[in-house]
Amino acid sequence: MQEPETRRPPAHAAWRWALIGLVVAGFAAAFGYVGGWLAPGRLTPKRIVDALQANGGEHPGYRRNHAKGMCVTGRFESNGSLATYSTAPLFGPGSSTPVVGRLAIPGGNPYAADSSIPIRSFALRFDLADGEQWRTGMNAMPVFPVSTAKAFYDLQVATHPDPATGKPDPAKPKAFFAAHPETAAFLAWVKTARPSASYVTETYESINAFYLRDAAGERHAVRWKAVPEQPPAGDGGPAAGDPDFLAADLAKRLGEGPLRWHLRMVFAADGDPVDDATKVWPDDRQTVDAGTIVIDHMEAQDDGPCRDVNYDPTILPRGIEVSGDPLLVARSAAYADSYLRRTSEEGHLPGTASPKENHP
Ligand code: HEM
Repeated sequence: MQEPETRRPPAHAAWRWALIGLVVAGFAAAFGYVGGWLAPGRLTPKRIVDALQANGGEHPGYRRNHAKGMCVTGRFESNGSLATYSTAPLFGPGSSTPVVGRLAIPGGNPYAADSSIPIRSFALRFDLADGEQWRTGMNAMPVFPVSTAKAFYDLQVATHPDPATGKPDPAKPKAFFAAHPETAAFLAWVKTARPSASYVTETYESINAFYLRDAAGERHAVRWKAVPEQPPAGDGGPAAGDPDFLAADLAKRLGEGPLRWHLRMVFAADGDPVDDATKVWPDDRQTVDAGTIVIDHMEAQDDGPCRDVNYDPTILPRGIEVSGDPLLVARSAAYADSYLRRTSEEGHLPGTASPKENHP
């Protein structure tokens, strides 16, 4: 009788298994790299958001920065002036685009007093008729303190509360600013900044630059701002004693009628820095008024239409493009991390306890 032959995989099958193993290991390494597991010291979106959270506290269901705010809705009425510079359909003459917005204050504490910080913010999602979206988050300040994600992270760490006192150690931000001369323009501005009594008298700025793309394919570097029609008169300082005066003021003003901002595009001149948010452009740059943002309704953020919006500044319609400013990708990644945290926490979904009810 013949011995049965031992069945061995042919040589090419063994190679196939080895190759599959390599591909799987490659994917695992890629996930590890992105997740930051392979290099614990590497700066990841998670570490940035952890640093924001260490300063603002952990408030389930809330944004990890700009946590306190209100939802607003309305529309953008284009006057057509920007159509020669951008193919984005919302800039067509006479076009009206619905917007879902959010007025807020920076910081991770949704219970902070409105007077605690001299900066207000305005985020907008434009819902274009063809299904495209434009999302932007603007701050009421002309310049950002830092130009990179690493410096942003280091600034958060420098302002962490000292466990002994519950307050930041003043020596640390001092050392940070001394080591970061690019913060000079921001520091000069912040010296003169006062918390405004109203969201609606503020000028909000994109700070980061973007490109408009015209029908001939030409790119134009721009920054944009929302300039209020509401006059500063009557903005006589915050109402004493009320930590939530901004929401009260907004409700009162909307009771009297819609609020308006002009969307102004500021064009860079040759040589203006496009990828550095710490550098202002001179005041005399060409500016085009693209139309009017009209806000006619507000709602609490706990269940309003802005709650589940991630105002990621890299979500753009055709005709607007990101610049090479490294803050833009860093923002996109950090906002996604913050969004995933808050939308997966108890208190976020209707029917579970509202975030406010969880507050002592
Ligand atoms: C590396 C730099 C930055 C980081 C890491 C960062 C981080 C964040 C995070 C985590 C949020 C919460 C997002 C969410 O949960 O939906 C946020 C909100 C916001 N940030 Fe930034 N930010 C940066 C730079 C900027 C700059 C340059 C501006 C300038 C205009 C800005 C304006 C805003 C605004 C307006 C919001 C509120 C959006 C809303 O109302 O939902 N941020 N930021």
